[in-house]
Amino acid sequence: MLQACVDALVQEPDGCYVDGTVGGGGHTEAILQRLNERGRVIGFDRDMDAIERVRLRLGEHERVSLVHENFAMMADALRERSVNEVDGVFLDLGVSSFQLDEAERGFSFQGEGPLDMRMDQSQALSAREWVAQTDEGEMAEVIYRLGEERSARRIARAICERREVRPFELTSDLAAVVERVKGGRRGRRLHPATLTFQAIRMVVNRELESLERVLGEMLLRIRVGGRFVLLTFHSLEDRLVKQFFNRHVRREVALQAGGVQVEGERPFVRWISKKPLMASEAEMAENSRARSAKLRVIGVEG
Ligand SMILES: C[S@@+](CC[C@H](N)C(=O)[O-])C[C@H]1O[C@@H](n2cnc3c(N)ncnc32)[C@H](O)[C@@H]1O
Repeated sequence: MLQACVDALVQEPDGCYVDGTVGGGGHTEAILQRLNERGRVIGFDRDMDAIERVRLRLGEHERVSLVHENFAMMADALRERSVNEVDGVFLDLGVSSFQLDEAERGFSFQGEGPLDMRMDQSQALSAREWVAQTDEGEMAEVIYRLGEERSARRIARAICERREVRPFELTSDLAAVVERVKGGRRGRRLHPATLTFQAIRMVVNRELESLERVLGEMLLRIRVGGRFVLLTFHSLEDRLVKQFFNRHVRREVALQAGGVQVEGERPFVRWISKKPLMASEAEMAENSRARSAKLRVIGVEG
């Protein structure tokens, strides 16, 4: 979907584009390649390792600026750099394969790492603290809502019982407790702890809150004709994006007394494709993350 994202985003080769989630830098580089010598990319990631990785990948580049910041703060960070308007914003949400593959970061139930899950290593709250401090009811609610995990109550109870005996330190401790509740893997496509880990990662990193803020603030800073392009991986993210932009779609409603009334919040937008684009069968076979990817694109009409 990389080329589809770049095709959707870049409308002006000399424009200024924001990649809000540089990760490994694949999209950042592809955007840059689509621009001419006047075009520029401003890349954000809240993970310092990602910023350093992309800096190495692209080298010192006068048309690329990299910012270690939560994309929730994107509008402020751009203003501080005297950038008031951009031609497009791209977000590829969730965690990167680098974060998942590195056991030390504590995102994966597969390795033996500290129960961390912070995208931004300078953040105070880690998964370890969240699991130690959160009361059982709230924990069940989070695992149910963000993980869409049907065994949420039983899992929360088991976690709270186990932490009375010994605090959780490792990802493998947590995975083992969830696995015990859910009865092992038994031919399931997903590991039994997948949804619980997803929920805890999302709450620790306040992922939906960041998304909500960047949508609201950056829609006001994209030029007319520019694009907002989002790759989502979770039904709640996708719903948030869909509902947010639907409120900004310009609608003409016929009045009984004659004439039409224009409805919708400003700035107006239009869906570039009404339905989200999904990965091809081949991409899904190659990359399991692609199975839940949805690409949504809007054009800003002003
Ligand atoms: C799926 S990866 C992006 C992969 C990237 N498009 C590439 O081509 O390699 C998501 C990245 O977004 C970052 N991220 C997630 N939420 C963020 C936020 N609120 N602010 C800034 N970066 C965020 C993560 O740290 C991760 O590096």
